[in-house]
Amino acid sequence: MTESITITDNRTGASMEIPIQNGGVSELDWQKLLPGIWFYDPGFVGTAACESAITYLDGEQGILRYRGYPIEQLAEQSTYLDVAYLLINGELPTPTQFDEWCHEVTYHTFIHENLRKRFLDGFHYDAHPMGMLVSALAALSTFYMDAKDIFNPEARNKQILRLIAKMPTLAAAAYRFSRGMPFVYPDNALGFTANFLSMMWKVAEPRFEPDPVLVRALDVLFILHADHEQNCSTTAMRTVGSSHADPYSATAAAAAALYGPRHGGANEAVIRMLTSIGSLDNVDAFIASVKAGETRLQGFGHRVYKSYDPRARIIKRTADEVFAVTGKNPLLDIALKLEETALSDEYFTSRRLYPNVDFYSGLIYQAMGFPLEMFPVLFAIPRTSGWLAHWVELLEQDSRIARPRQLYVGEEKRDFVPISRRH
Ligand code: CMC
Repeated sequence: MTESITITDNRTGASMEIPIQNGGVSELDWQKLLPGIWFYDPGFVGTAACESAITYLDGEQGILRYRGYPIEQLAEQSTYLDVAYLLINGELPTPTQFDEWCHEVTYHTFIHENLRKRFLDGFHYDAHPMGMLVSALAALSTFYMDAKDIFNPEARNKQILRLIAKMPTLAAAAYRFSRGMPFVYPDNALGFTANFLSMMWKVAEPRFEPDPVLVRALDVLFILHADHEQNCSTTAMRTVGSSHADPYSATAAAAAALYGPRHGGANEAVIRMLTSIGSLDNVDAFIASVKAGETRLQGFGHRVYKSYDPRARIIKRTADEVFAVTGKNPLLDIALKLEETALSDEYFTSRRLYPNVDFYSGLIYQAMGFPLEMFPVLFAIPRTSGWLAHWVELLEQDSRIARPRQLYVGEEKRDFVPISRRH
C-alpha cells in the first residue's frame, strides 16, 4: 500500500502526491500546491504542531505511555521523581543518576526570602492559590539572571531543577497564605512528596510525619498527572517557549492555561456535582437530566480517550488505599452509582463516554484534606516536569516560532470617519 495521499486543486486541475509520515502529512508539501490555502482547525483538533518522543497516547484503546513505558507499570513501580527524570532525559536514571537527581531537587526546594515575604505576602488575604502560583512562577525569572541563557545546557538544567524543586514550596506557601497560616520551610530530610505534605500541614510539631500510604498515593497521582502530550497547557508552554522566553515565564503561561476550568478544574466540578446530587436516591434523576442535555456528567468523556481513561482505572484503586486511612469520602458511593448507571446506559455507551482522570481524583484530594481551590495547584506540581520535557524537546528541535494563520472574516477596506461625523 502506498503511504501517501494525492490532492487535486479543482480550480486548476493540478495534482500532487504527498507522503504520509508518522501518521501525518507535511503542511510545507501541501503549500507547494496550495499556497495561501490554510487548514481551518479551531482548537487544533486535527493539527499536529510538532513531532514528539515523550508521551504516546492511543485514545481508542486507552493506552498511555511515557517514553515507551506503560503508565500502569510506572504507577505501580516507579516514583514521581524517577518519572520526572525519565520525561526530561528520555531514559530511566541509573541508581547513581537517581541519587544525584534526588539530591539536587531536594537542595533546590528553598525560595528566595523576598519572593515569600515581599511578593507572596503582598497578595490580598483571600487570594486564590492558583493565581498566586502563576504569578510567583513568572516572578521567579527575575531572581535568576542565567534564566535567559536557554541554549546553555548547564544553565538550562539548573532552571529545570529549580522549577521542579520549588513547585511544592510555592504551592504550599500559596495555600498557607490563603489560610493565614505561617510559612513552613522545606524539610530536606523528607522525600519530594512527604516534604510537600509537611509544608502543607505542619503546625507546631518538631517534625511532621506524613502517613506513608498517603505519601505514596499522592506520589502515584503525581505520576499520573506528569504528562499528557499536547494538551492546552503544554501547548501554551511550547508556544511561549518557541519565542525563546525563559522557562519561568513559559511555565507561568502553562500554569495559567491549567487554571481554566476546562483544563485543570474538572475534578473540582466533579466534587461540586456529587455534592449537589447529595444522595443515591437522586442519581437516576441526575442521569436523566444529563441525557436531556440539561447538564453534563462531570469527569466523563474525553477529547482523545474513547474508552476507559487508563489513569482513571489506577486512581480508582488508589482511592481505596487512601480511604482505608482517611475514612471513606461520603461522596464515593454516589460516584460509584453514577459510573455504574452511566456505563450501562445506551446514551453514554453509544457516545463512548467513560470516566476520565478527574472522576475520582477530586475525591482522593478531598479525603486527604485539600480544599477545592488547591486541586489545580496539585495538578501543576507534577505537570511541571512534563512541561519542561516538552520545552527541552522544542529547543533541541530547532523549532520555528508558533505563529498560526487565520481566515479573515472581517470588513473589506473602508475609509476612516472623523469622530465629528459619526452618528
Ligand atoms: N456528559 C454528557 N454528555 C457528554 C459528556 C458528558 N460529560 N461529554 C460528552 N458528551 C456528549 C455530548 O453532548 C455530545 O453528544 P451529541 O453527539 O449528542 O451532541 C457527545 O457526547 C460528544 O461530545 P463533545 O462535546 O463533542 O466531545 P469533546 O471531545 O468536544 O469534549 C470533554 C470532551 C472532555 C470536554 C467532554 O467530554 C466534557 O465536557 N466532559 C465533562 C468535563 C470533564 O470531565 N473534563 C475533564 C476532561 S479530562 C482532563 C485531562 O485529560 O486532563
